[in-house]
Amino acid sequence: MQAALIHSYKQKELELTSVPIPDINSNDVLVKIIAASINPLDLRTMAGGLKMLLHYDMPLILGNDFAGEVVAVGSKVTQFKVGDEVFGRPRKDRIGTFAEYIAVNTEDIALKPKNLTFQEAAAIPLVGLTSYQALHDLMDLKPGKKVLIQAGSGGVGSIAIQIAKQLGAFVATTTSSKNVEFVKSLGADQIIDYHKENFANVLTDYDAVFDTLGDKNLEQSFKIVKPSGKIVSVSGLPDAKFGKSYGLPYWKQFLLKVATRNLSKLEKETQVQYNFLFMKPSGKQLSLLTEWIEKDQVRPIIDRVFDLNDINDALNYSRSGHAKGKIIININ
Ligand SMILES: NC(=O)c1ccc[n+]([C@@H]2O[C@H](COP(=O)([O-])OP(=O)(O)OC[C@H]3O[C@@H](n4cnc5c(N)ncnc54)[C@H](OP(=O)(O)O)[C@@H]3O)[C@@H](O)[C@H]2O)c1
Repeated sequence: MQAALIHSYKQKELELTSVPIPDINSNDVLVKIIAASINPLDLRTMAGGLKMLLHYDMPLILGNDFAGEVVAVGSKVTQFKVGDEVFGRPRKDRIGTFAEYIAVNTEDIALKPKNLTFQEAAAIPLVGLTSYQALHDLMDLKPGKKVLIQAGSGGVGSIAIQIAKQLGAFVATTTSSKNVEFVKSLGADQIIDYHKENFANVLTDYDAVFDTLGDKNLEQSFKIVKPSGKIVSVSGLPDAKFGKSYGLPYWKQFLLKVATRNLSKLEKETQVQYNFLFMKPSGKQLSLLTEWIEKDQVRPIIDRVFDLNDINDALNYSRSGHAKGKIIININ
């Protein structure tokens, strides 16, 4: 099968090459991938920037989510059959969706929403799960709570706004002038043009911030959240608490503790809780998202579609940092 892979970290471009179709384990299905999506995680993985959290053997096929059709099932699989249309985010040690086939554990997939094309479905898994886990699992957003979602026009932000609205929250978001109407159409209640205003000077008394930007934006978030409120970041530094829950060795937890002492200080000063989120695969949560999608309450946002042969152009577009929604790769 055709696959896009790297032989070592810091390789500039993905190499398109022919590799064997993967074997399946008893709890796996083999999926013929029809579409995949680009995530900034692909760029970070290529650059070797996540070696502290993820260790990969080379060569490594990249790609973290997909939609496609089941073409074979493992001996213990009962909930999926050949011909099922599915979508998913494979677990971190079994990525590789920039390829014609993937062997994936059935816990990591769900039936594709019936009202979506494969391209649309591939836009959902990683960003949909990330947003659900931040807004529902960690923040426990309830009707009337106020949340700031950073970068509302991005792959994560554009689905997070819609999920936060489903949970009944009041949603503020940051974006640039060209995307104001777009984020409004997704349900944002208050919009801050980040080129003109600093959110930290405009918003107060928020219950939560979903930080997708990190650095200064993350630090400034502490200014706008109420005591006992929460900040969930997917772009800031992982802290020692995360390191422990992720099962990192003690020395790595210690390094994270040192690296995030500024955030710990801010937590103490403001009584706001900081959580780093590293999203997890979950077929069950994809099925929950499907209920909203099939009722047209949440929709995928696609910016551009590239063919697998042009995957390096797609990665370069993602690198620009200005995608509006998701970048899709047509595979089969
Ligand atoms: N830890 C995890 O599990 C996890 C999971 C998913 C994603 N992430 C991380 O989350 C981050 C966001 O991912 P993504 O897929 O949403 O990225 P993305 O789609 O590439 O984000 C691009 C968007 O960000 C907007 N943007 C850039 N700078 C901004 C600023 N200062 N203020 C407001 N908006 C800004 C851009 O809008 P303009 O064109 O208007 O500038 C653009 O629409 C990445 O760092 C990714 O690695 C982590």
